[in-house]
Amino acid sequence: MTSDILKKAREYEERVSAYISEKERPAFHFSSRVGWMNDPNGFSYYKGAYHLFYQYHPYSTKWGPMHWGHAVSRDMLRWEYLPAALAPDTPYDNAGCFSGSALELPDGRQLLMYTGVQEHLSRDGVRRDLQTQCLAVGDGLDYEKWPRNPVLPGDVLPEGFSRQDFRDPKMFRRSDGTYGCVVGCRTEDGSGAILLFESADAFAWRFVTVLDRCWNEFGRMWECPDFFPLGGKQILMVSPQDMSALGLEFHNGDCTMFLIGSYDEQARRFERENVQAVDYGLDFYAPQTTVTPDGRRVVLGWMQNWDTCFAKPEDKWFGQITLPRELSYRDGRVVQNPVRELEKLHGRRVSYADIPVQEELTLRGVYGRTIDMTVTVRPRSECGYTSFRMKVAAGSQHYTSITYTPLTSTLRVSRDHSGTNRDFVHVRECFVRNRGGEIKLRVILDRLSAEIFVNDGEQALTLTFSTPLSADGISFQSQGKTVINVEKYDIVTQG
Ligand code: FRU
Repeated sequence: MTSDILKKAREYEERVSAYISEKERPAFHFSSRVGWMNDPNGFSYYKGAYHLFYQYHPYSTKWGPMHWGHAVSRDMLRWEYLPAALAPDTPYDNAGCFSGSALELPDGRQLLMYTGVQEHLSRDGVRRDLQTQCLAVGDGLDYEKWPRNPVLPGDVLPEGFSRQDFRDPKMFRRSDGTYGCVVGCRTEDGSGAILLFESADAFAWRFVTVLDRCWNEFGRMWECPDFFPLGGKQILMVSPQDMSALGLEFHNGDCTMFLIGSYDEQARRFERENVQAVDYGLDFYAPQTTVTPDGRRVVLGWMQNWDTCFAKPEDKWFGQITLPRELSYRDGRVVQNPVRELEKLHGRRVSYADIPVQEELTLRGVYGRTIDMTVTVRPRSECGYTSFRMKVAAGSQHYTSITYTPLTSTLRVSRDHSGTNRDFVHVRECFVRNRGGEIKLRVILDRLSAEIFVNDGEQALTLTFSTPLSADGISFQSQGKTVINVEKYDIVTQG
């Protein structure tokens, strides 16, 4: 049965989204149907289509009581909005339906697990939120909350674990047909831990172990975990809050990390060996993965930073999701590249080879704000070069720059001149592999964002900007002499 609160949200989003034209949105990145969106939820393949749910407050462009928005797609790039799936309409989720995941049950139904947030007045008179894990079962369109919710109440937690910060369940099916689920929680030292739960039927769950703990080393609370095998390794992906930067790593405050390790399935023991930031740009948080029918592990994230959420008063929607990216494991690192479905949207191609660059130059046909462009840069002489800079989304007053400095082997992105009217951080820098002055940059622009994939996916840097769409220029410049190859495709989403 659809509650009045969900009905109201569905009517509202249907009515108000009719006033938002396609042109006001990114072309091949998912954006909130109306109002506010944060984390991607329930990213999964179900009955012939990809489903994407999301943290959603339809009624304003600010975070509020969380609903789950919903959309489907055949290629993970062009999404069709469906009616909102969940609303905060029961006593155990009266303060919000927080992040979670989805899977298909053996009987063909779709199961959602989310965090129910219940606001209650504690004995000391203070309002507190209790977080529990809850289920909803549906057919890909409508969902019924499970009558025996919550399925993971606070009393399943081991001693010392917080009932206020216990959230973001990510379920997965194990090879023997049983189910696992990772959930973020806060421990007695105030920092995060990831708990593993198991179930034979995905309805009755039991606590198994603590997979890994933050120990106040990597941020504080760990949100939005995911746990999956990749190229012979096991990855625990987490979104730590309140992270301190380490050199050029982990500058986002609320950050994202791959904890790379090995997993002893029998003993249920995860051994962390290495850590790696998921994204090195300005806007990336709360990623989640799924597996495609042909076996690819694909990740996508909220294309935003919690500290820089400012919508303009006239905006009717806020929040974008990154491109879905295929993950692989290469030379000790998790590598990310846009899903190959993007190539099917390639339109007009323009390419150049061996173009000498020094003074700022533009190339005929190389422009646009919905493009997939690969630029390879190499030194033109033995003397090398001191820097190479590319400007994108450039007009008479605006640009976003991408600068490579071979001496330090660093890549820097800056949206300082992108038309921002907010004084927050606009620059990010990261180390890239030193390849004797050569670098390969795949830059994907979609109206209001740029995603940069370095050296075939060794790093990804993501940022949003609000540059007027008329600023569609691209230019190249170097200090010292370089030679570049450029291959650019327009992205065509219609027809
Ligand atoms: C991450 C997060 C999650 C929570 C959700 C609430 O961005 O804080 O931990 O479930 O957002 O909207």
